[in-house]
Amino acid sequence: MSSESGSTAMANVMLTDPVPAFDTIYEDAIKTFRDTFDAQPDVAVCAPGRVNLIGEHIDYNDGFVLPMALPMVTIIVGKRNQTKSTANVVTCCDGADDPTTVSFDLNNLTVGTPKWANYIKGVLKCFGKQLPGFDAVILTNVPIGGGLSSSAALEVATLTFIQALTEADNDKNPENTKSLTQKQQALLCQKAEHEFAGMPCGVMDQLISVCGKRDHALLIDCQTLDIFQIPFEMGDDLAVLICNSNVRHELSHSEYPTRRNQCAQALELLRLNSYKDATIKSLDALKGSDEVFTRRARHVITEIQRTREAAEALRKKDFIEMGRLMNESHESLRDDFEVSCAELDILVEAAISCSASVLGSRMTGGGFGGCTVTLLRKSDINNVITHIKTIYSANGTNGRTASFYVVQPGDGTRRIM
Ligand code: GLA
Repeated sequence: MSSESGSTAMANVMLTDPVPAFDTIYEDAIKTFRDTFDAQPDVAVCAPGRVNLIGEHIDYNDGFVLPMALPMVTIIVGKRNQTKSTANVVTCCDGADDPTTVSFDLNNLTVGTPKWANYIKGVLKCFGKQLPGFDAVILTNVPIGGGLSSSAALEVATLTFIQALTEADNDKNPENTKSLTQKQQALLCQKAEHEFAGMPCGVMDQLISVCGKRDHALLIDCQTLDIFQIPFEMGDDLAVLICNSNVRHELSHSEYPTRRNQCAQALELLRLNSYKDATIKSLDALKGSDEVFTRRARHVITEIQRTREAAEALRKKDFIEMGRLMNESHESLRDDFEVSCAELDILVEAAISCSASVLGSRMTGGGFGGCTVTLLRKSDINNVITHIKTIYSANGTNGRTASFYVVQPGDGTRRIM
């Protein structure tokens, strides 16, 4: 049994919509490993998904972001096998009920199908060292494709796994012992996502999956990659509620690079080196250019400021101010950055209409589907969920229902066996 049994990891997820418990997937992973490979795994690791509290579409614009790691994680259990360079990986990470197995040659790691394997192969390739053959089982309770960084969790778990698997080699060969810093781990996983999944993401998801800390949000300066742990304890009063629209955020794959390019072009027109140097006054320089650049830049500039203020509000435990900034962030993402969608707007409006108990609500992640994040009073949580559920089902979402997770900030990646 892991050291994270019910009392710790699970206490963090109130199962309003059951995601499988940590212990359940850990035990399942070990059982599947035994059944498939007729052996006992000797390494187990996990890495969390994340929810971003504020600072959206800012990590690739040199500003500040403020995510927290989730108690939902991706778990990898495994062991070296007798082969020189064959990896056999079993997973349900594609969302299927039955596990599928993929085998690949560690000396010839290339992009291919199934898609989920590219995240793993990308990390192994970017790790860059000679790897031993291994068998592994990967299970997760991070909702797939819900904008909660299931892909970063898979990348970071893969890196932690391969580091644990090759640790013994390092003892024998001091050349290898230079371990990666947290920053290097995050950058390696980001590179894997760029090169093997074709997604030009920022580094927020990978960095929080590496550096997350229980009861803390993480302020990241995306220009320097300096990180600041900010205490964020829910106590008896507060809760963070994630509402999953259950709209897959597929559009983000085409719109995301477009937003990145528009931000880069707007920065050139502003004649600045970084958005961190910009103020709202800087937007004057965009007069006469396509209006889309003003809107994109205005989101970036105001969101950086909001995130600075939100970090300050969290430090002072001024949750009313934090909530206000979250609401403003959503409006900016909806109107200026145009990455929300009808379903996310309905979820946010339904939450905000519970004004006695909801402090703030916004879409989170890349957008075009996925989830919202809401800061609210714990005492009224069931009423708020019921209200949002009813409004969401009644408002033209093709019979779609929303899923709800009540979460507290969890730890970053770690070895559990
Ligand atoms: C995705 C990317 C992140 C970040 C968010 C938007 O999750 O992977 O790097 O840009 O979108 O904030």
